Amino acid sequence: MAAIATGDISRTDEYPVKICFVSLPGIGGVTMALRAAGLQPGAAPGQAQRLRLHVAGKRRAAEGIAAFDLVAEDGGELPAFIAGSHIDVYLAGGLTRQYSLRNNPAERHRYCIGVLREVAGRGGSAHMHDHLKVGDTIETSLPRNAFALEENAPFSLLLAGGIGITPILSMAHRLSALGRDFAFHYSARSAERMAFRNEMEASAFADKVHFHLDDGPAGQKLSLANLLAHRPVGAQLYACGPGGFLDAVIGSAKVLWPSEAVHREYFANATPTTGDRPFRVTLAGDGRSFDIAPGRSIVEVLGENGIEIQVSCEQGICGTCVTRVISGVPDHRDLVLTDRQRAAGDRMTPCCSRALTDELVLEL
Ligand code: FES
Repeated sequence: MAAIATGDISRTDEYPVKICFVSLPGIGGVTMALRAAGLQPGAAPGQAQRLRLHVAGKRRAAEGIAAFDLVAEDGGELPAFIAGSHIDVYLAGGLTRQYSLRNNPAERHRYCIGVLREVAGRGGSAHMHDHLKVGDTIETSLPRNAFALEENAPFSLLLAGGIGITPILSMAHRLSALGRDFAFHYSARSAERMAFRNEMEASAFADKVHFHLDDGPAGQKLSLANLLAHRPVGAQLYACGPGGFLDAVIGSAKVLWPSEAVHREYFANATPTTGDRPFRVTLAGDGRSFDIAPGRSIVEVLGENGIEIQVSCEQGICGTCVTRVISGVPDHRDLVLTDRQRAAGDRMTPCCSRALTDELVLEL
């Protein structure tokens, strides 16, 4: 298996996303936690890496958003995480969902997540809202990070839209603890849909937070054009929110913000899945070949034949499954690879991407 667990990932060359599954945040570090568990740093989550967590708290955070506090079953310390990290939550029926940790990374006793009930979702968030209750036990992955914070930047601009507040909130905690200079803009459709506002207003960084309501007075609405029209020297930009919000941020940042200064995290991949054509995948390791029919993924077909590719999001946004391409031309449908990586044609996300040629030879 040739999954690349650490490296730079992004959808375009203009706006890279840093993905790193391990780090040493000065409070113990995920690397040490992984090694203590006999696991390899950088490994994608599998059965052996699951945590069993107790649901210690559940509350309504905003309209359609539920907040959960998860703790170790024995009440002990949890593996450390860094700002911007997420966990996979394994739900009944084989559903796996990714949720960002929103709490202060200095906390070792709990993982806090916020779950938006997605009306058009596949049932994971509805299950969390309707069935998961205080006292239940759930399984999760170890924390991983596909949205790393550059902690030494002289200034950081944090932008959150809707439920995109969760990783951004964790970043604000971390930057505040480090004494870094930053500004935090949180935009929501309405006051009822704005989560964790009280928490932010009571935080040590309350003076750095600016709230924006889409249905509020004109003067307080988020103006990305104005906000991004000036870039302090060395400033880094972090954005998380719905696709439209991120597209607007990226569009507004294009002129003044260099590629390496813009970091964003998507929730979902809305890339059209039409135009599937059949192709063949050949494994470089043993030469076996498998036909991938329209509507089937490489991961699915190989899995049915006993070849496991580790996955997490299964929609091309996390980079867990990235695999080397030996020959053939991938039909990229992910949101993680750069234009340069796509042009090089030497890697792909087999969870969602396909082939433009009749055959792909993968380093498996
Ligand atoms: S599993 Fe997330 S990109 Fe493939």
